[in-house]
Amino acid sequence: MNVLILGSGGRECAISSRLSKSPEIDRLYALPGNGGIKKYATCIPGSVTDIGCVKKAVEDYAIDYCVVTPDDPLAIGMVDALSIPCFGPKQSAARIESSKAFAKELMKKYSIPTAGYEVFSSYEEALNYIKGITFPAVIKADGLALGKGVVIAETIEEAKKALKEMMLDKKFGQSGCKVVIEEFLEGPEVTVLAFTDGKTIKPMISSMDHKRAYDGDKGPNTGGMGCIAPNPYYTTDIEKEALDKIILPTIKALAEEGCPFSGCLYFGLMITRDGVKVIEYNSRFGDPETQTVLPLLKSDLFEIMKACTYGYLDKTEIKWSEGSSCSVVLASSGYPGSYEKGKEITIPENLDAEVFIAGAEEKDGRLFTSSGRVVDVSATGKDLKEAVEKAYKASEMIFFEGKTMRKDIGKKALEA
Ligand code: AMP
Ligand code: GLY
Repeated sequence: MNVLILGSGGRECAISSRLSKSPEIDRLYALPGNGGIKKYATCIPGSVTDIGCVKKAVEDYAIDYCVVTPDDPLAIGMVDALSIPCFGPKQSAARIESSKAFAKELMKKYSIPTAGYEVFSSYEEALNYIKGITFPAVIKADGLALGKGVVIAETIEEAKKALKEMMLDKKFGQSGCKVVIEEFLEGPEVTVLAFTDGKTIKPMISSMDHKRAYDGDKGPNTGGMGCIAPNPYYTTDIEKEALDKIILPTIKALAEEGCPFSGCLYFGLMITRDGVKVIEYNSRFGDPETQTVLPLLKSDLFEIMKACTYGYLDKTEIKWSEGSSCSVVLASSGYPGSYEKGKEITIPENLDAEVFIAGAEEKDGRLFTSSGRVVDVSATGKDLKEAVEKAYKASEMIFFEGKTMRKDIGKKALEA
């Protein structure tokens, strides 16, 4: 079987590394891939949002199955457009990420716990509404905004600025024409990625992303600077509550709305004093959560993906390793602001960790940085302490000019 994966990040590198082990896959391709994915797949140049280009690759390389991981091709209907079986939701189900208003309305209709909210398409009405609310409050652009469309406004002035930037200045283009204004929630955050075929849902091991750029959860939001799994705040009781009140009802709600979700559904949860609530859904694997969770997966990833696509997930056993996992992101100095590219990366052989390339080009067998998040270093251990130590030991041994990383991934969890 020939399989194509769309994307070019650390997440796709981790998924490719697992797919490359599947005995059923004859040839693995990635579009566009990156300098690290090259180790596992043949990279095809092109853009993941160019449907014509992806269709041509499917034809040219006789692709039988396509794994669609990034949010934007899912949002534009890549799975609907391709005439082959795919891992990933159709456009109608991907709205759970591509429209925050859709996600909130779904939760309201099916009584799934989430922050209270209102949706606005009129700037004047939104402006009027914020005069009567308490702060902090959360302003979210309705559509995709590269993870930057959420503003936690501490004051009415900050809220006004965010509304102006989103709705009038169109900072996020069409994505900000509609906004969701919601109640600010507090508590530890948990990511639960789950495999689903639209009827059955099987959660993976829980995880904890570290989204802020600097130690102590300070600084600007990033795509994620590191991650641990399992998440120690996700106790058996919380897990049961999340399953009963959020995870199962969501999959049922989507099916009842006529848009069953097949693929990986991402639950961004917050454990508040009033119980577990949904902060966000994503219609895809998380990054860097995937690089942390997949090292604990013992079963064949491709078998599970096919079960999601063809609808027999109930009959598919998914096995996980005991122990914990930790990923540290090595970033270019300056990220998430501006940074330099083209720095040579040296990675010693025989590290006691897995290295997933997130942003590097390969030239004559040498790797050069090509984006903000460059390398994800993932290690597993008998417990979190061991996983964290191994991930940091390996991270210290990888070099490129301007390498930066958070030094406290897993620290809070170890102290919890
Ligand atoms: P999102 O892009 O929706 O994941 O939001 C980015 C981050 O903003 C989340 O990981 C939370 O830390 C924070 N956030 C989003 N919504 C809320 C909320 N209602 N209350 C508190 N924090 C929030
Ligand atoms: N790590 C957060 C995300 O993938 O959206």
